[in-house]
Amino acid sequence: MVAAAIPRGPRGGRVLGNMREFNSDSLGFIERCAREFGDVVLTRFLYVPALFLFHPDHVEYVLSTGNKNFIKAASLRSPFFHRLVGRGLVTSEGDFWRRQRRLAQPAFHRNRVEAYARTMVAYAERMLSSWKDGSTLDAHEEMMSLTRAVVAQTLFSADVSRDSQEMDRALSNIVQPFAAQATLKWILDNRLPTPAHLRFNRDVRKIDRFVYRLIEERRASGEDTGDLLSMLLAARDEDGGRMTDKQLRDELMTIFLAGHETTALALTWAWYLLARNPEAEAKLAAELDEVLGGRAPTVEDLPRLRYADWVVKESMRLYPPAWAVGRECVRECEVGVFRVSKGMQVFGFQWVVQRDPRWFTDPLAFRPERWGEESISRLPKYAYFPFGGGPRLCIGNYFATMEAVLILSTIARRFRLLPAQEVEVLPALSLRPKYGLKMKLEAR
Ligand code: HEM
Repeated sequence: MVAAAIPRGPRGGRVLGNMREFNSDSLGFIERCAREFGDVVLTRFLYVPALFLFHPDHVEYVLSTGNKNFIKAASLRSPFFHRLVGRGLVTSEGDFWRRQRRLAQPAFHRNRVEAYARTMVAYAERMLSSWKDGSTLDAHEEMMSLTRAVVAQTLFSADVSRDSQEMDRALSNIVQPFAAQATLKWILDNRLPTPAHLRFNRDVRKIDRFVYRLIEERRASGEDTGDLLSMLLAARDEDGGRMTDKQLRDELMTIFLAGHETTALALTWAWYLLARNPEAEAKLAAELDEVLGGRAPTVEDLPRLRYADWVVKESMRLYPPAWAVGRECVRECEVGVFRVSKGMQVFGFQWVVQRDPRWFTDPLAFRPERWGEESISRLPKYAYFPFGGGPRLCIGNYFATMEAVLILSTIARRFRLLPAQEVEVLPALSLRPKYGLKMKLEAR
C-alpha cells in the first residue's frame, strides 16, 4: 500500500500561520494557493490545520461520497452562530439533523414551492411601483429587502416590510456582522459587551419575541396556511413527537437567514454582470418580450424562460453567493492521495473551481448561453456547486432558482439597470459587493 502524501502549502507566520494573508485578501490568497500548489493545499490558521480543495472530485468526496467522515466546519459552532440559529438545519448534525431535515423537506417540495411564485412576482411588482426612470438606487439593498419580504411571507405568512418596519430593521441589522471581513474577530470577541454586540443581542431578542409570538398565535388558531410554519407545526415523528417551540424558532431563524441573503446576492451579481454585458442583456430582453409580451411572469412561463435561467446560473458560477463550503474531519481518511487527519478543517471553494479553465472555456467571460451547450453535460459533477451537494445540499435550491428567475424577469421586462459605481467584492460569510451596488434605472 502506498503511504498517503502530505500536501504542500504556503509558508505562514510562526504563530498566526496563514491567517494574516487570508484575512487581508481571502480571494487573492486562495487563488494564489491553487496557482502555486495545485488541487490540494495545506494551510494553517493559528494552531488549526486547514486543507483547501480545488478539484471537483475532491469536493465530491468531502460533500458526498465520503461525507460520513466529516461534520460542518468548526466556525459554525461559535457562540455567535449558536445565539442566532441554535440547532437549526444548517448547524445541527447526526440523527437530530436527519429528523429535522425529514420534517422540513415536504415544505420545499416542487409543488409547494411553485405555489409561492405568485407572491414572489407580486412583491417584485410592489417594489417596482416605487422605482422611477432615471433615478439611482442601490440594487443590493433593494434585492435584500425584496427577498427578505418574500421569504417571511412565503414561509411564515408574515409581512415584515409592511406591518413592522421595526422588525424589518432588526432583521436587516443582524446580518451586518456577516458583512465584516473581520467576521472571525467578531466571533472571537463575541462575549465582550461592545456596542455592536449589545445591539446584536438586542436585535436577536426582538426577533425572538416576534418569532415566538408567530408560533404561539399559529398554535392557538390551529389554522393551516400552507406555509412552512404550518407544516413544521403539524409535523410528527414516527413516535408522534413534535418540535418544541425552541426547535421551531431555530428552524424559522435558520431558513429565514439562509433563504434571503444568498438569493438577493445571486440577483445583485446578475444585475452587475448584465450591466457590463449589453449583448447578454439584449438577449434576455428579447426572450422576455417573446415569452411574456408585456405581462408579468407566472410559474407556467418558467420552462420557456431559458435564457433568464442561464443568466442566473452563469451569475452564480462567476459570483457564487456561497463562495466556500467548510467541513471538519471526524474520521481519518484520504482525499485523492492525501491523508486528512481528524480535526482538520477542509474547504471547497466555488470561487476557484467554477472559474477553472479546465472545466469552463473562457472561464471569466459572462456567457449565459454556455449552459445550453452540449459540453456542459460533460462537466465533472462538482465543477459547479453553488448549492453545495450530498446530504447537506441546500434545501432551498429550487426555491432560490425559481425566485431568482421570476424576480429577474419581472424587473428586466420593465427596467434596464445601468452601472453607476465600481464594485469591490467582499468575501464575508457570503460574497457581497463591499460598498453596495448603485445603479441607474432606465425604463424599457
Ligand atoms: C441562491 C441562493 C442560495 C444559495 C447560493 C445557497 C447555498 C447553500 C449552500 C452552499 C448550502 C450548503 C452548505 C454546506 O454544505 O455547508 C446551503 C444549505 C442550506 N440552505 Fe441554501 N442557498 C440558497 C438559498 C436558500 C433558500 C432560498 C433557502 C430556504 C428558503 C435555503 C436554506 C438552506 C438550508 C436550510 C440549508 C441547510 C440544509 C441542511 O444542511 O440540511 N437556502 N445553501
